[in-house]
Amino acid sequence: MCGIIAAASTRNVGKLLVQGLHKMEYRGYDSAGIALHQENSIAHLRALGKVQLLEDMMISEKPKSKLGIAHTRWATHGEPSEVNAHPHKSKDKVYIVHNGIIENYIELKEALVKDGYEFSSQTDSELIAHLLDSFLEKGNSMIDAMYLAKEKLEGAYAIAAIDIDNNNSLVVARNKSPLLLGIGTDEILAASDPLAIGQLTNEFVFLEDGDVAEISAESYKIFDENKKEVEREITNIDISSQATSKGDYKHFMEKEIYEQPEAILNTLDGRVGGDDILDNIFGLGSSELFAKAKRIQIVACGTSLHAGRVAANWLSSIAELPCQIDYASEYRYRNPHVDENSLLITISQSGETADTLAALRYAKEKDYLGSVSICNVPTSSLARESDFVLFTNAGPEIGVASTKAFTTQLAGLMLLVLSLAKSRNLNPKLRTRIITALRTLPEVINETLALKEKILDLAPAIASKDNALFLGRGIFYPIAKEGALKLKEISYIHAEAYPAGELKHGPLALIDEDMPVIALAPESEIAEKLVSNLEEVKARGGTLYVFADPSVKMDVKNGAFISMPKCDFFLTPIIYTIPLQILSYEVALLRGTDIDQPRNLAKSVTVE
Ligand code: G6P
Repeated sequence: MCGIIAAASTRNVGKLLVQGLHKMEYRGYDSAGIALHQENSIAHLRALGKVQLLEDMMISEKPKSKLGIAHTRWATHGEPSEVNAHPHKSKDKVYIVHNGIIENYIELKEALVKDGYEFSSQTDSELIAHLLDSFLEKGNSMIDAMYLAKEKLEGAYAIAAIDIDNNNSLVVARNKSPLLLGIGTDEILAASDPLAIGQLTNEFVFLEDGDVAEISAESYKIFDENKKEVEREITNIDISSQATSKGDYKHFMEKEIYEQPEAILNTLDGRVGGDDILDNIFGLGSSELFAKAKRIQIVACGTSLHAGRVAANWLSSIAELPCQIDYASEYRYRNPHVDENSLLITISQSGETADTLAALRYAKEKDYLGSVSICNVPTSSLARESDFVLFTNAGPEIGVASTKAFTTQLAGLMLLVLSLAKSRNLNPKLRTRIITALRTLPEVINETLALKEKILDLAPAIASKDNALFLGRGIFYPIAKEGALKLKEISYIHAEAYPAGELKHGPLALIDEDMPVIALAPESEIAEKLVSNLEEVKARGGTLYVFADPSVKMDVKNGAFISMPKCDFFLTPIIYTIPLQILSYEVALLRGTDIDQPRNLAKSVTVE
């Protein structure tokens, strides 16, 4: 999704701004642009497509500047095009970059048009440049203009702005869209993602909603929503030491799939002791709070929601708690009734997903016992705004299609379920059984990754089709959904998932030689019923690819039967996810798609 980087420096900033844009490419974008202050003019370059195209323009034009703003855009209002790419400008004087959505843009635009402003793009963002210009024209400073603009703007935004009359400083503002400052040796930076500036500094200042900051090469000032100058804490994070290179892998996604044994180890590290879960792993007082929980509400989006669906099943079986689960984008709009002693759980890799954050903020106004988050990014808004957090410690995930973030979320959710069960004095033997299984999980994942050669044999048959059906039952239905999501995201093959028992109620009509069926058949009390469902596919000439426990009796002639490593039933969803990730990756590789940055998608979705 959109990315902002801005810098005021004692040296040339063009190159470092473009390098910062490269670091944010993983978020997903369709165009890129830059505005560089050159004392008497502002160099303005924009390109539809990859950041590399913008970089090529920079190499040929060689603009020199010590103050600039740059952006990668992910279209919301207006198609991906050069004219809709940021920075946007007003009268060659004011240039802005914007992340988020201005909800009242039609009304603001109409008023600006009446005042004589001409719009050249279809975006909601351009009006911010004109609005700032209208206030600067009246003699306001950029800081004052930003506050006046904020009074008018409704919605979410992170903004960085420069104007022709000031080549010393730039101004940024944040409301419900991530923005932070970085204190470098030769410059002060601003960015929407710490990864963008992690090569230049370890010192970050996370702005809060309502904040406006003025940045020059040597100093910065932050003002809060009431325009009062404030000090915000400096956080030290060594991002450059966090692996953000592909190493010997072809894609980040591939690397992240094979990193899973270590990632899971990191999730478990320091959280299990002896044969039980340790107390308060979600923060001081969390075990006490968990003892009061009578009901759970989960909200999340995308892959994180699938992790939540598995957890809902675990919560019921292991912690004996009823659980309601909602898409974060839907939760607020169904007038949710909150029972006494309900706990809110949010799940998010990035911790910046706008819908999930909005759901958390909405829920905080309701009568929940507290909010608990499972998150991968310690500096994220979700982590900072939740009462209790467990970090999955998966390390940066760069591939848009989530892999290690998902399996570590599952491991983290299992830790949550075990913590709840322990606080409620429930199922000690089962807890010990699961803890023992968790300790061997990285080994079992390694065994599963070794299935790659077998999966490579299946990939061409799937890659040549336009559709696929994924089947699972019970706790494996969300894993089938995650498998279908992975395949459609990166290979652009249309894929759907069904609980296998539902097949006869509709999807069976789709079965023919062009509809491969990928099924998950672990050892379970309903294994036989699942096999009967798969026989229905066989009987209609369907092609079956079955990932199954060796004990499952099934004769697959048309397709393949792949035996899966053994592990405790409750952890099998984690294991059965792995071959589906590898399959999607290998299929996408054969189809030649942009695996790490699939078309139209974004890694961190910061608009509702
Ligand atoms: C985007 C990503 C998905 C992710 C979803 C939720 O759609 O492409 O991979 O599952 O957002 O993101 P979150 O960071 O909240 O887990």
